[in-house]
Amino acid sequence: MQDQFDVDTLTREEAERRLVELAGILDRANKAYHQADAPEISDAEYDRLKRENAEIEARFPELKRRDSPSDQIGAAPAEGFQKIAHSVPMLSLGNAFDDTEVAEFDRSVRKYLGLSENEELDYTAEPKIDGLSLSLRYEAGRLVHAATRGDGSVGENVTANACTISDIPQTLTDAPDVLEVRGEVYMSHEDFAALNARQAADGGKTFANPRNAAAGSLRQLDPSVTAGRPLRFFAYAWGSVSQSLADTQIGAIGKLAALGFRTNPLTRLCTGPEDMLEHYRDIEARRATLGYDIDGVVYKVNDLSLQARLGFRSTTPRWAIAHKFPAELAWTRLEAIDIQVGRTGALSPVARLTPVTVGGVVVSNATLHNEDYIAGRDSNGQPIRDGKDIRVGDWVQVYRAGDVIPKVADVDLSKRPETAVPYAFPHICPECGSEAIREEGDAVRRCTGGLICPAQAVEKLKHFVSRAAFDIEGLGAKQVEQFFEDRWIREPADIFLLEERYGSGLQQLKNREGWGAKSAENLFSAIRQRRTIAFHRLLFGLGIRHLGEVAAKDLARAFGTWDGLADAADRAATEPAAIQGPSRETLAASPAWSEFLAIDGVGVTLTQSLVTALAQAHERESIDRLVALLTIEAPAARATGSPVAGKTVVFTGSLEKMTRAEAKARAEALGAKVAGSVSAKTDLVIAGPGAGSKAKKAEELGIEMIDEDSWLELIGDA
Ligand code: IVH
Repeated sequence: MQDQFDVDTLTREEAERRLVELAGILDRANKAYHQADAPEISDAEYDRLKRENAEIEARFPELKRRDSPSDQIGAAPAEGFQKIAHSVPMLSLGNAFDDTEVAEFDRSVRKYLGLSENEELDYTAEPKIDGLSLSLRYEAGRLVHAATRGDGSVGENVTANACTISDIPQTLTDAPDVLEVRGEVYMSHEDFAALNARQAADGGKTFANPRNAAAGSLRQLDPSVTAGRPLRFFAYAWGSVSQSLADTQIGAIGKLAALGFRTNPLTRLCTGPEDMLEHYRDIEARRATLGYDIDGVVYKVNDLSLQARLGFRSTTPRWAIAHKFPAELAWTRLEAIDIQVGRTGALSPVARLTPVTVGGVVVSNATLHNEDYIAGRDSNGQPIRDGKDIRVGDWVQVYRAGDVIPKVADVDLSKRPETAVPYAFPHICPECGSEAIREEGDAVRRCTGGLICPAQAVEKLKHFVSRAAFDIEGLGAKQVEQFFEDRWIREPADIFLLEERYGSGLQQLKNREGWGAKSAENLFSAIRQRRTIAFHRLLFGLGIRHLGEVAAKDLARAFGTWDGLADAADRAATEPAAIQGPSRETLAASPAWSEFLAIDGVGVTLTQSLVTALAQAHERESIDRLVALLTIEAPAARATGSPVAGKTVVFTGSLEKMTRAEAKARAEALGAKVAGSVSAKTDLVIAGPGAGSKAKKAEELGIEMIDEDSWLELIGDA
């Protein structure tokens, strides 16, 4: 399947926006899955979104968000259970989706360890159980507590519930003094069907799948409910141990089995990728007859001393990977193409489909991205889907890739109706009738109506209340639409006048459909709280094109206050030629423009967009009305950390105590930036034997240079 969001062609601004979107989608998905046990998106979609996020971050490392989904596992524990801090974090696994990615995993492990292709390197392969992970702590052979994964650092104390599971021994003989056993709680297909039948007969809640049933059953505040639910447990890993279990993964699993845990019978020792893939296919072939859900195969480096050397990335081990089974797809008929108008006027085509079930969810809409995508080419004019265009009446393949809008992956030309004609993308905004134009280099056609276009106005408001902007609880997209339609909120300032205008005795608001006295009071209080707002949130919330969250922070830090920024923009706007778009050099020569262009991460496109937006009387008056109602908080200074945090370092020559990859990972974990070449921006060069031109350059530039041992001492690894 093709990656629908073509990460390689995203601009920096698009990437930044997409990262904001992904953080929101993934956060909601995490909460739905981990806290409510009611997933909103399929695992395959979740994986794909996480991967898209990681790919964008790999291309634009500077855009990585502090709340990046890549650094998060699950969601913080729900209220109601006691919390337990994991002594060793409970991590997640990286994913591979095809054979080449498995081979790549092997290559990267070898590279990290400095092993050649011919050297022996064994892995274990075992089913990835689709349940929820649990950590069991035994002290002196007695089960002292059981904790769910939670956010990876802190989980929920479900000891009483775990004690009702017969696969979980409460005492162990011949166990290390401290032993944390980790594994998966799950429910068999048979038990799941029986439970749902019983629940239905009693008028209780039925579960969508065995995993939700297992999660819902384990996370019961009343253990007697859990006791009545048939849960099972496979052990596959461990946390703290006072004495090592074995030298190998396979040996450790054997030891857990000997201690009385159930371990998966399909766990095998494999000699390399070919062997692993053979076992993957074997497991895949047996999948339907196992009697419980699995969603892939997990490979782990067998030698535990190598596992220790490989260590971890922020949330995943380098020594293991999950090879997932393919996502679900479905074919259906494209009935119509509708056009939606977004915040910046972008016309987005949406496919209306004959409803079809994809991965257990009924799908009737899908995104078609833009006019090029429909025509069968990417943003560089290269053919996609072998150049096949998409027409109303076509038979199309869909998959779900977001919590809202699924995607169209392919079209079957053999089923194209004879009457089908190429889709003519509109040149007029369907919402306000203004001309819709496509600027050179832009994949998107945009309505030129600005705020007179109701679709743009309402989308701007939705953006304004979104998570990374004002994040007003109780005022989501749905409420904004409702208020907009009734003309209670037409621009951001109206939100802060809502209580004054319509709150009198809460009469008006609380009488509206969907609002009671309590929810109305909550909304007003949430709005009041946001009258004080961080400067960068305000900037981001304005919804100015190209002004993403990261740029908003950069601008906020550089200008410090709204007035400072607005004055600079006003000065820049008095140079009208500038807005027409001369070169960066000419603009940088202008004192007003250079105030913006000197900021790292702020370019000509963004500055033009910002200056133009603030110079438009309509828009500016609207912003001024808003700013007058707010208290804007100045940005905080950047945080510092280890002795090398924030430093740019370069490794050169050969290292003796570790591979280059290992050294780089360690440095990055400490907050350093590892560069490939020496420049004036380099703070420190670590030179080993054989260092050549880079060491010479460092000398010329007078950059501090140290050897490997001094480096290890500096970072406290000596
Ligand atoms: S090993 C440090 N092995 O998959 C990594 N995990 O996506 C420890 N899972 O949180 C995990 N079957 O809940 C491992 N055979 C298996 C697994 C498995 C299911 C789950 C586990 C983990 C998640 C990661």
